[in-house]
Amino acid sequence: MSPRTLLALNWKMNKTPTEARAWGRELARSYRRGTVEVAVMAPAVSLYGLKEAMPGGVDIGAQDVSAHESGAHTGEISAAMLRDAECTYVIVGHSERRTDHAETDALVAAKARQAQAQGLTPIVCVGEGLEVRERGEHVEHTLAQLRGSLDGVDERVVIAYEPVWAIGTGKTATAEDAEAMAAAIRGALREHYGDLADSLRVLYGGSVKPDNVAAICAQPNVNGALVGGASLKVEDVLAMLSALE
Ligand code: PGA
Repeated sequence: MSPRTLLALNWKMNKTPTEARAWGRELARSYRRGTVEVAVMAPAVSLYGLKEAMPGGVDIGAQDVSAHESGAHTGEISAAMLRDAECTYVIVGHSERRTDHAETDALVAAKARQAQAQGLTPIVCVGEGLEVRERGEHVEHTLAQLRGSLDGVDERVVIAYEPVWAIGTGKTATAEDAEAMAAAIRGALREHYGDLADSLRVLYGGSVKPDNVAAICAQPNVNGALVGGASLKVEDVLAMLSALE
């Protein structure tokens, strides 16, 4: 059975706690629960109390988590803290963190394991840069990243394929490109998790908007989207949901 479509919203470094709660209340005025699952990944400081502001059935999550359990790690936020703030998901290995903070596959895997140890579902991001795509090495690059980032990670995981050249650039991969990579990722997941791979969600991310979300998510191996820019306005999120339903 194919998994339920997930619309995962990545606010990145946008929305103060006050703005985040106001957004949740605004969504609650028009949101009707449908077949698509929705989760909002907010900045850590805006998470607390956010779940109550969201309409019933909308989950929240974080954008990063510490690889450590607790203790002397100034500035870090643990998976247990996120759990207590009612998070369901946490993004790990987003390309902006891999670039800005030199996060390696091994670190991403350690963060995903910490998330799982607290009952959170990690959304593990992988994807190639433009030079890799132009050299035609995007499949091997992305699958190597995936294998490294899933070391010791069990099947309670969501994968997001986000080609770096499509993030925030307005350049979306075609639905066919997204499907080709999602199918390759599914193959690698099968090696790792056996038949369970068929029930795991593989998302596409990179300039997803109301006018392209349905075509991308209609692909057989694409089970939803990770959306940055178009996640900030309630109006765009409602438009994406109605396109998907
Ligand atoms: P974008 O970002 O939708 O603004 O391209 C996607 C992401 O980085 O998760």
